[in-house]
Amino acid sequence: MTTLDLEPVTTTRPVLHGGPPPGASGMDVIDLCAWFGDNLVLEGVDLVIPPREVTALIGPSGCGKSTFLRLLNRMHELVASAALAGEVLLDGEDIYARGVRAQDVRKRVGMVFQKPNPFPAESIRDNVLAGLKLARIRTDDPDSLVEQSLIRAGLWREVRDRLADPGASLSGGQQQRLCIARALAVGPNVLLMDEPCSALDPTSTRRVEETIAEIGHEITIVIVTHNMQQAQRVSDRCAFFLAAEGEPGRIVEQGSTETMFTSPRDTRTLDYVSGRFG
Ligand SMILES: Nc1ncnc2c1ncn2[C@@H]1O[C@H](COP(=O)(O)OP(=O)(O)OP(=O)(O)O)[C@@H](O)[C@H]1O
Ligand SMILES: [Mg+2]
Repeated sequence: MTTLDLEPVTTTRPVLHGGPPPGASGMDVIDLCAWFGDNLVLEGVDLVIPPREVTALIGPSGCGKSTFLRLLNRMHELVASAALAGEVLLDGEDIYARGVRAQDVRKRVGMVFQKPNPFPAESIRDNVLAGLKLARIRTDDPDSLVEQSLIRAGLWREVRDRLADPGASLSGGQQQRLCIARALAVGPNVLLMDEPCSALDPTSTRRVEETIAEIGHEITIVIVTHNMQQAQRVSDRCAFFLAAEGEPGRIVEQGSTETMFTSPRDTRTLDYVSGRFG
């Protein structure tokens, strides 16, 4: 297989027409491959991500889960040596099609990272509105958007009387929910979460999981987690990634979370979800 530059990949596709539909969007990944330089790190990945469901990506360290997530909102191409092949459809339209702008994809497919990354000196209110400013989206009623976003992120009651305090004045768990509020304020159809609870204590983790349970009915969520209990608690579907020694990452198995944890087809899936390796 030859390495493809981003340029040909992005210029040989049909143009995406129409504006983003409201609400949740499904994604469909077809034969996706990803490289860093000459290093093929993901190969032949097919995944259906249904709308208004929570899909968990599981698998050992280094198998390409974060790379895959970053391919879903065109963050992969921010790395200079990055390349890809295959298709990523959002509501049936290829996000790598010619004429589709990465910024527009990122408005529709938001992201929350492992380490909470609020702007520490900015107020809680301005943090919620920060993504909007970056995406150049105007709102007529910022106060109501701040309130709604913080309610959806499960943080409103804790911060309603201190919206002018700096982001840094919040606990780690509150900061992560602030980052979720910031992502939701932009109105994404899909929210990507890369190990959003790995830096959090159990109570904060529970709060974030409650938030996922609530918004997971409104928008589409794709979450990477190393915590098998968490995958079982929050997700409807799971995809198990694995990279054999010296090989690129692939999806070994995908399906409903219940099936993946109780009667997977592949013994490697069973071994992984029961904690026998990884
Ligand atoms: N910016 C980069 N430049 C070069 N190689 C990278 C880069 N980011 C990741 N890789 C490589 O791509 C492969 C997949 O990494 P990735 O971070 O996607 O794995 P992961 O499954 O998210 O791992 P973890 O569970 O530890 O977060 C690894 O071999 C990694 O070294
Ligand atoms: Mg990762």
